[in-house]
Amino acid sequence: MEYRKLGSLDVSVIGLGTLRTFDVTSESDISTCRQIVENCVESQVNLIDCASMYGDAEKVVGITTAGKRDKFYLTSKVRCEGKEAGDAQIARSFELFDTEFIDLYQVHNMIDWRTHLSTLEELKDQGRIGMVGVTAMVHEAYPEIINLMKSSRVDTVQVPYNVMERECETELLPVAEDHGIGVLVMEPLKKGRYVKELKQQPDLTPLAEYGIKTWGQALLAWVIADHRVSATIPATSRPERIFENALPGSLAPLPQELREYVRQETERCL
Ligand SMILES: NC(=O)c1ccc[n+]([C@@H]2O[C@H](COP(=O)([O-])OP(=O)(O)OC[C@H]3O[C@@H](n4cnc5c(N)ncnc54)[C@H](OP(=O)(O)O)[C@@H]3O)[C@@H](O)[C@H]2O)c1
Repeated sequence: MEYRKLGSLDVSVIGLGTLRTFDVTSESDISTCRQIVENCVESQVNLIDCASMYGDAEKVVGITTAGKRDKFYLTSKVRCEGKEAGDAQIARSFELFDTEFIDLYQVHNMIDWRTHLSTLEELKDQGRIGMVGVTAMVHEAYPEIINLMKSSRVDTVQVPYNVMERECETELLPVAEDHGIGVLVMEPLKKGRYVKELKQQPDLTPLAEYGIKTWGQALLAWVIADHRVSATIPATSRPERIFENALPGSLAPLPQELREYVRQETERCL
């Protein structure tokens, strides 16, 4: 597994997302999440991204990483209006993760960011969180995020970046590189659509020699071939997919011509 800098941390270039997949309550679903976490340890995946608004996900991350906290960097996100509600949400993350320290805390989709960024900066000064970040799902938020990046108020940003969604390439990624800001990539598989909803079977032949065996791996390899990406965080509800998704993290970066092939093939098959 390749590790890249996210602030001062060395994070696995393939991390784990938890949106929907860790929002579970039954014993059997929690046991599946436990297996996912165990497979992450085995695959040397050391970054788990979560959020206050992912239902029971923070609680399930807390339960399933118990006794293994030294193997993972954890992130969460605040998403609400107002200082009081924000403080309560952030406090609950510490409680549900069952931890005194959270490695990265992000303002979710820039909602009420002026309020929450100040709170997170204070928590960082107090040593309760390691880094401050922001996330955005829509590129209309990028100008504001880029201003924050240039003002050095954020250590990380989290944005979508995949074969078909490349708006961050124009300005956001260059600014991240110039300012040494960590980049987490959400939705590398477009919520799974670019693998599960293809109308035709992609041809993996040109990628086989390179070590890629599935289209999911091809899409992940496309994302991490951009060296400005610190890590991408695909989510899954299937423990065996952790091994599949981690594999591109151990391969050499996809050459430009194969990256272009993956893009064209996705377009053809969608
Ligand atoms: N605003 C924000 O801050 C924000 C927004 C969106 C996402 N995020 C973060 O980014 C993470 C990733 O985004 P996402 O979960 O929306 O989308 P994603 O990672 O692009 O896709 C997840 C989906 O892909 C499927 N999948 C995973 N690996 C696969 C493979 N090898 N082959 C086929 N299907 C595969 C999973 O289904 P199975 O369960 O069947 O494997 C799951 O339904 C989230 O979990 C969250 O942590 C943040």
